[in-house]
Amino acid sequence: MSLRIKTFEEYKTEYKKSVNNPERFWAEIADKFSWQKKWDTILNWNFDEPSVEWFGGGKLNITENLLDRHLDENGTKTAFFWEPNDSTGTAKKITYQGLYDEVCQLSNALRKLGVKKGDRVCIYMPMVLESVVAILACARIGAVHSIIFAGFSAQALADRINDATAKVVITSDGLYRGDKQVALKSMVDDALNDCPSIEHCVVLNVTNEKVNMQQGRDVDYHTIIKNEPKHCPPEIMESEDPLFILYTSGSTGKPKGVVHSCAGYMIYSAYSFQNVFQGEENDVFWCTADIGWITGHTYIVYGPLLSGVTSVMFEGIPTYPHPGRFWEVCEKYNVNQFYTAPTAIRSLMGFGLTPVNKFDLSSLKVIGSVGEPINEEAWTWYFENIGKKKCALVDTWWQTETGGIMISGLGNLSPMQPMHAGYPLPGIQPILLDSEGMIITENEVEGYLCMAYPWPSIIRTTYGDHERCKNTYFSNYKGYYFTGDGAKRDKNGMYRIIGRVDDVINVSGHRFGTAEIEDAINMDDFVIESAVVAFPHDIKGQGIYAYVVVDQRGESSDEDITSSIINCVSARIGKIAKPDKIQIVEGLPKTRSGKIMRRILRKIAEGERSNFGDTSTLLDPEVVDKIVRKAL
Ligand code: WTA
Repeated sequence: MSLRIKTFEEYKTEYKKSVNNPERFWAEIADKFSWQKKWDTILNWNFDEPSVEWFGGGKLNITENLLDRHLDENGTKTAFFWEPNDSTGTAKKITYQGLYDEVCQLSNALRKLGVKKGDRVCIYMPMVLESVVAILACARIGAVHSIIFAGFSAQALADRINDATAKVVITSDGLYRGDKQVALKSMVDDALNDCPSIEHCVVLNVTNEKVNMQQGRDVDYHTIIKNEPKHCPPEIMESEDPLFILYTSGSTGKPKGVVHSCAGYMIYSAYSFQNVFQGEENDVFWCTADIGWITGHTYIVYGPLLSGVTSVMFEGIPTYPHPGRFWEVCEKYNVNQFYTAPTAIRSLMGFGLTPVNKFDLSSLKVIGSVGEPINEEAWTWYFENIGKKKCALVDTWWQTETGGIMISGLGNLSPMQPMHAGYPLPGIQPILLDSEGMIITENEVEGYLCMAYPWPSIIRTTYGDHERCKNTYFSNYKGYYFTGDGAKRDKNGMYRIIGRVDDVINVSGHRFGTAEIEDAINMDDFVIESAVVAFPHDIKGQGIYAYVVVDQRGESSDEDITSSIINCVSARIGKIAKPDKIQIVEGLPKTRSGKIMRRILRKIAEGERSNFGDTSTLLDPEVVDKIVRKAL
């Protein structure tokens, strides 16, 4: 099923078609997929409610499109090369037929555990092939998967299980990450003390550690699939039935469950995958993300499998056991398209070129970047030393909520400009708004990035709280989807993403809300209140700077307090969210009405020591001087 545009001229024509008649444009693409029943209507939408329905009345199962339809001609084709954490470990591969067989077995087993269409299943697993099997087994039987990144804490897992009222959790005994081993199942055990909706926990053996198996609740992955048939009738899904929930952070409150639906997500994940990466039939694609993030969902699992390509899945981290590991893996599998995050590039740049030059990277054709703005130094290093100045570098802008890549070059078809994501994909209608909410039509401008028209994989709702979806994305600017990002448009109409304009911090490509981290910090017994802001960080892109006011410290030193706070954040959210800097302060700069002036705190975190602009509304301007004197 080729959905590929082959020239830049063709892109321009397709783009025009997609704007002039979006319904016809997407219907022609949808027609190339397998449907159990074709749709009655193509698009119904209203951004005020919001409600978006693509291919209403259609019936399908996404797994028939990514497994069954490949079997006749490509059953023996490798779906994944799996590369273990340790380079001396045993690599594996699985064909499309092999994947189909195991997905069917697990689907049958999950049905026996009582999982039905619409039930929620949480997946808390390492980067092993069985995670892909688990995802697809859910999709096959119509269960809604909710993958939780295995770096999140037991508490964060419990919060997400409870929000989704999940029936089953699929996990493993443990996981390997570089030289570390994490006891995943014992974290799940902690979480499940507090999760009444869970009926079963499926446990895969990965690290061979001894785990507690609670009778009646916990079952072993291999035991339950062993005798199951390698066929499983797919559940018939409506186009708009939910496919998955993925939790992500926003500027307020707890992380919210972004819901994607079956048909629209299927179409856009495959379409964006094929066009951005421009792979040929026998190419090897590698996306280094974790399946716990949207990038892993769309560009490890759904996009590549729908397109029938061969991918690499990597269990480990870029620097283990040596800082050339990424490049070693590229050489080993002759990777043609490589997709990673700026934070990985920046950390690997620090090791110089020796680890790069040991390996043959001549198979690479397209290299991609995702998750945060890529700075010029990292862009140039990546382009010159990994892409050897001959590969197309695609800087792909998108979000959990958009389901797939929205603004990006298309392989080597599009003009390239460092740090510019570039042009929108066909079907995507970005606009920039000014502070009054008016559309800016000229070029060489900057504004709030919004979308004027729905695309197939737009967020449908936030799980269990539709009002929140409306308030977060569709209320700031009436009639438009608001991304939360600011962007520039240059004289040629290319977009450059500046970054978040709300209280979302992007640390190594991971999203956190400042309020979410503050809530975790405030749980610490020492803390009365706190304020969290981002500061520029050489490797992570942004770092987390926390200002905390403490109470009753007794004999405790500053070190005792900061380590207590770090432990508290690690337990509430996970180590990935722990502050890089914690400054204990006497008070926070507040206005007379009690609002924290974050603008000042941000400036201090960025290194500014004076020039804070108008501070006349502060209740106590002295507070600022005191903070500055001890700033980190
Ligand atoms: C940021 C990740 C600049 C942006 C796919 C967005 C980017 C947020 C880029 C979404 C990029 C993502 N250039 N910024 N190429 N890609 N972002 O939901 O701020 O984890 O709003 O999705 O990451 O993060 P999320």
